[in-house]
Amino acid sequence: MVCGPGSKPLLFALLLAVGGDPVVPVPTWVSYAAQARLAGGRPLPVPTLPGEGGVPDPAALLEAVPRARAAGRDVRCVVVTLPDNPTGTIASAATVRRLAEAARELDLVIVSDEIYCDLVFAPGDRAVSPAEFAPERTVVTTGLTKNLALGGWRVGVARLPGGPLGRTVHERLAAIASQVWSSTAAPVQAAAAYAFAEPREVVDRVAASRRLHERVVRAVAGRVTATGARLAPVRATCYLYPDFEPLRARLSRAHGVAGGGELAALLARRHGVGVLPATAFGEPEDALRIRIATSRLYGESEHERLAALTAADPLRLPWIATSLDRVAAAFADLAGEPVPGS
Ligand SMILES: Cc1ncc(COP(=O)(O)O)c(C=O)c1O
Repeated sequence: MVCGPGSKPLLFALLLAVGGDPVVPVPTWVSYAAQARLAGGRPLPVPTLPGEGGVPDPAALLEAVPRARAAGRDVRCVVVTLPDNPTGTIASAATVRRLAEAARELDLVIVSDEIYCDLVFAPGDRAVSPAEFAPERTVVTTGLTKNLALGGWRVGVARLPGGPLGRTVHERLAAIASQVWSSTAAPVQAAAAYAFAEPREVVDRVAASRRLHERVVRAVAGRVTATGARLAPVRATCYLYPDFEPLRARLSRAHGVAGGGELAALLARRHGVGVLPATAFGEPEDALRIRIATSRLYGESEHERLAALTAADPLRLPWIATSLDRVAAAFADLAGEPVPGS
C-alpha cells in the first residue's frame, strides 16, 4: 500500500512511475488524460461499450495497442474506473475479465480507480475489480472523498500487486511520494485509519449517502429521459451522462445547439443549471452529451445536507423539490414542451 494526499496525486504519481502512454477509456474522468500529458505521455483513447463506462472495450484495446506500438508509441498501462465517472455505470464482470486478459496479453499494467465502489446502489450489485482476474498487474486506488464526501480531507491509497511487476512500480511510486509529498497530514491519517476500519457509524453514513444519491439520481433520470434523451441505467455514484442525440434536430432548430458545450452553456444561461459538456470527458465537440452531478441538489447548508441524508423521503424536502422542479423545467424546455409556471 502507498498512501498519499488524495487519490489524484497518487494516480499522477502512478502514471509517472509506470511511464509511457496510458490507455484511457472514452468517455473518461477529466484528470487521467491531463495527468498523462503532465507526466510526459500521450493518452491513447479507447472507446467503452454501451452502458459499461469506465472500461475500454477489450476487443478495441487488442487492436489499438498493437497499432499504436507499431507506430512507435510506448503503451504501458490502461486506466479503468469502476464504477464510472462520468456515466454512473459499472462494466460487467465479463467485460472486466476480458479487459484483464487483454492487458495480460499486451503486458499492460492496469490502474483500477475504485473510488466509487462504496456507492453502488443495489445491495446485491457490485463492481468487480480487474484485480480478481489479473492480480499480478492491477494497482487499485481509492480514497475517502466520494463515499464520505470529504473533499478537503486529502487522503488516498494505492494497493500494489505482489511479484516483480508490483515491486518495481512500488519502488518508483515510493520514490516519487518521498520526493513530492512525504506523507499525508497526521490528523487526516488518523481520520483515515478510523474510516478504513469501517466502524458502524461510518458504514451507516455511507449507506445513507448511497440511498440519497440513488433517490435523487433516479428522480433526475426520470426528468431527463422524459425529454427523449438516451440514458444508460445509472447503478452507482451521483452522476448521469445522458445523450441528447435523439433531440439533435430540435436543439439545432430551437436553440442553435449542435454540441455538448453549447448545450451546457444553454442550460447555464437559460436555467442556471450547471453541467459539464462531453468534451471534458474526451468526447468530440459535436457529442450532445453532458454530465449531471446530483450532489449540489442536496442543500446549500450543512443543516440542509444533513436533513437530506436522514430524511425518509428526501424528494419531499422543499429545497430538493424546488431544485428538481427547476431541472424538470430546464429539460422540458430543451424538449420543446411548455415550461411549467412560465
Ligand atoms: C474517478 C475519480 N477518481 C479520483 C478522483 C479524485 O479523488 P481524490 O479526492 O481522492 O483525489 C475523482 C474526483 O472527482 C474521481 O471522479
